[in-house]
Amino acid sequence: MKRLSREHLSKIKTYKPGKPIEELKRELGLRDVIKLASNENALGPSSRVISGIARAVRELNRYPDSNCYYLKREVAKRFRLKPSNFIFGNGSDEVITFAMRAFLKKGEEAIIAKPTFLIYDIVAKVENVNVKHVPLKEYRYDLKSIKRAVTKKTKIIFISNPDNPTGTYVTKDEVEGLMSGLRRDIILFFDEAYYEFAKDIKDYPDTLRYLRKGRNIIITRSFSKIYSLAGLRIGYGIASEGMIESMNKVREPFNVNSLAQEAALAALKDDRFVMRTKRLVGEGKRFLYNELSLMEISYIPSVTNFILINIGRDAERVYNKLLKKGVIVRNMKAWGLDGFLRVTIGTMRENRIFIEALKEAL
Ligand SMILES: Cc1ncc(COP(=O)(O)O)c(C=O)c1O
Repeated sequence: MKRLSREHLSKIKTYKPGKPIEELKRELGLRDVIKLASNENALGPSSRVISGIARAVRELNRYPDSNCYYLKREVAKRFRLKPSNFIFGNGSDEVITFAMRAFLKKGEEAIIAKPTFLIYDIVAKVENVNVKHVPLKEYRYDLKSIKRAVTKKTKIIFISNPDNPTGTYVTKDEVEGLMSGLRRDIILFFDEAYYEFAKDIKDYPDTLRYLRKGRNIIITRSFSKIYSLAGLRIGYGIASEGMIESMNKVREPFNVNSLAQEAALAALKDDRFVMRTKRLVGEGKRFLYNELSLMEISYIPSVTNFILINIGRDAERVYNKLLKKGVIVRNMKAWGLDGFLRVTIGTMRENRIFIEALKEAL
């Protein structure tokens, strides 16, 4: 029978997210399940966010503000840019789609590291964009090899910084090395979903500076991680006014719902919550590093809220055993990282449960 769908879709593997808590409860009849699989924030949304949402609920009969006026005003003030330098998305994921749709012409190529955040590849395939893959080097983006991979066809280079799933970052010097002498019409896409966890590291690049200097850059940030709003789906892109205008043309008008807009505005103003999250992640990371070292399990040091752990040959079996104990982590097989599991840093209680379950599973 003739295929109904467009031909190129047959090459795409549907994205498999981390297993939802309710699904595991249903499948295994478990009562207590913890999820450390999707790099979410273990703290619930802050009370300021909840109050913001409660206000917005009363206006749900109205369409949301298509322009995210108040949010743009707030982030513009914060980063000393214009509101017209911002585009909001249904998660920062959506901005990846905007970029690919707005800028990649027929025959042009995207450069994507391997492995890295899977959505770049999926969106490229959906949009029928050719991709050149450049392997990581020692679990880090290899910007020198990326530069060598550039051809006349290269239009966009994706850089997840910090990277998911490795938790590593590229430095200011490495980024400047890539940019020096690079064709100016190549778009550098800096995915900074974990920016707030890494921004105070001395050699972490301040990409907004390059944007202010007129480079063709798109920077994305997320409310799903440090701001704890993954369930509402909201993130944003920062770029020149011209590039934002192009991306607005491919954006569905009401892509960011009104609850998400109110919640994000409240979250941005809640510095104490951000501090609490950083403290929790810091404490959890020290605990997990220490426990893993005692168990002689190696891991990739991370600047984010998750850790890539090298379990070895038994990773798949350990992953399944953890599930049976009500602990959801991420099996890294889909990334081609056989032998690895990725664990999100949770509350201290969750971290302890994970370590105990891991000891038993091993
Ligand atoms: C590197 C990276 N970019 C983007 C995202 C997507 O974030 P959002 O929830 O804002 O779409 C994630 C989520 O895990 C991520 O790890």
